[in-house]
Formats: sequence, C-alpha cells, structure tokens
Amino acid sequence: MFKVLFFDSGVGGLSVYCDVMAECSEIEPCFLFDNAFFPYGDKPSEFIRDRVTSLICRMTELYHFDMTVVACNTASTIALDALRSKISIPVVGVVPAIKPAARLTKKKIIGLLATPGTVARSYTHDLIRDFALGTQVLSIGTTELVRIAEDKLAGLAVSLDEIAEVLAPWTELPERQMPDVIVLGCTHFPHLKNEIHEVMPEAMLIDSGRAIGRRVKSLLSAMPQHEIANSEAAAAIAEGSSGKAFAGGMAFCTDMSILSERNKLVFNRFGFAECRELCMQ
Ligand code: DGL
Repeated sequence: MFKVLFFDSGVGGLSVYCDVMAECSEIEPCFLFDNAFFPYGDKPSEFIRDRVTSLICRMTELYHFDMTVVACNTASTIALDALRSKISIPVVGVVPAIKPAARLTKKKIIGLLATPGTVARSYTHDLIRDFALGTQVLSIGTTELVRIAEDKLAGLAVSLDEIAEVLAPWTELPERQMPDVIVLGCTHFPHLKNEIHEVMPEAMLIDSGRAIGRRVKSLLSAMPQHEIANSEAAAAIAEGSSGKAFAGGMAFCTDMSILSERNKLVFNRFGFAECRELCMQ
C-alpha cells in the first residue's frame, strides 16, 4: 500500500481524493485541511505559498508518505515549486483543466470558474496563453461557491438562486456568447456539479480530478518496490524504533477548536476514521 497525503484548505479536495481512489485502490490515504485559514481563495499568494509549504513539510516530518497530492488549485497555482524544493517525495498538483477545455469547446468560448486567487495567478494566465490560443476565456472568481460547497457537504441546503447569482455574468450573456465548456477550477466545485448543471444545462462541465487519478496511478506504479516510506517504516520496525508515526485513514485539521461536528462527520463519511489537529511545534 502507498501512503498518500491529500491536502486542501477544506473539504473540496475530497473530490480529488475520490477520483484518485477510484483509479488506484492501493492507497492508504491521509487528508490534511487548513481550516484555520479557510478559505484560501481570497488570501495573498505569498501567504498561501508559505503556509502550504510549511504545513506539508511538517506533515512529512511527522509521518511517512510516498506522495502528496495538493488537491487545491489555489495552492497548486502558487506553491508547487516551493514545495518540491523542500520535500523529496513526488508532489502532484491540481490546476485548472484549460487544455482539455480548449479542445472540447465548439464555440471557442470557455468559462473558468475558480477562486479569485486562481483566476488572478500568472500560472493560470500562462495555461491560457499556452493551451487556449484562439479561444476566449471568460473567468469568474468566487469564494461564495466554495462556502456553498462546504455547506452542502455538511448537509445544509443549497440555494440554486445563490449559485445562479454567481453565474449571472455568463447566464446574462446572449446565447451565442455564453461558454459551452466550463472548467471547474476549484476542487470544491465538482461537489456542486449537479447544481451548476441545473443553472447552465447547455454547458459541459469539466474538472481535473480523473486526470489527477491517472497521474497518481502512473507515478505510484513506477515506484520501485513501493518506495521509501514503506521500506523506512519496515526498517524502523525491524530496529525496534518507533520511527515516524502512521497516519493512514486519518484526517488532520489545523485548528481543532473551530472544527465543527458536521465537518468531522464529512471526513468520517469519506472514510477517515478520526480527525486530529496537526501539531506545528
Ligand atoms: N479547494 C480549493 C481550490 O481548489 C480552495 C478553496 C478555497 O479555500 O478558497 O482552489
């Protein structure tokens, strides 16, 4: 079994986690979410980069992992290079599916639905420049949908009116100017796929989850003998040393005092037995 750390600001990354697990069952997952600084979408880039790097570095100091998946577009579009320079395990990021969207659009108009941070990043602008040449990209940056997705997973009612309000810049356009492909460029948004589809039934909705699943599978299957973490753990046991602790099947938050019971239940429902707080000292 491979030990994989999934990371997001909140419950959004569970959409990626499900896509990865569907592709690759040989994973003992652990999920870290930064509820202390949720949401990420409206925070400064440098802050997100430093925060994500220090949290994931800390997790890898405390626990063994074979790989980490940064299941957050807002974090991936700013923190991947910094993170890769600090840890030795493979880091898989999630970025908006601009490239497949540009291939799929018939109207040559795509919609990018993401957080304000992701929409503003130069990483995103570079993706558009490199892969969507000749295609018009209409962006909506929203933290509102992130909150609605969190509420939905926590069992609260979703208001279609609120979603329609967020999507109004597109739905109010004349039909021929509306995007026919919408990129769900935030891992929270696949949780709202049905509701977004109700508001814009003509548009095709795409996200990066399944592609990430395939990427993780191919990287893991190329790892020699289930790689470093397992062999280190085996060595630690053989030596009688406790080694690093085991975190498989657990979820970690960054502030237990503000973690709601509903949120804990969400993680239980997705198969994480327990929620703990990541100890930063
Ligand atoms: N789920 C995240 C993303 O993919 C971030 C949501 C947020 O915290 O704003 O961008």
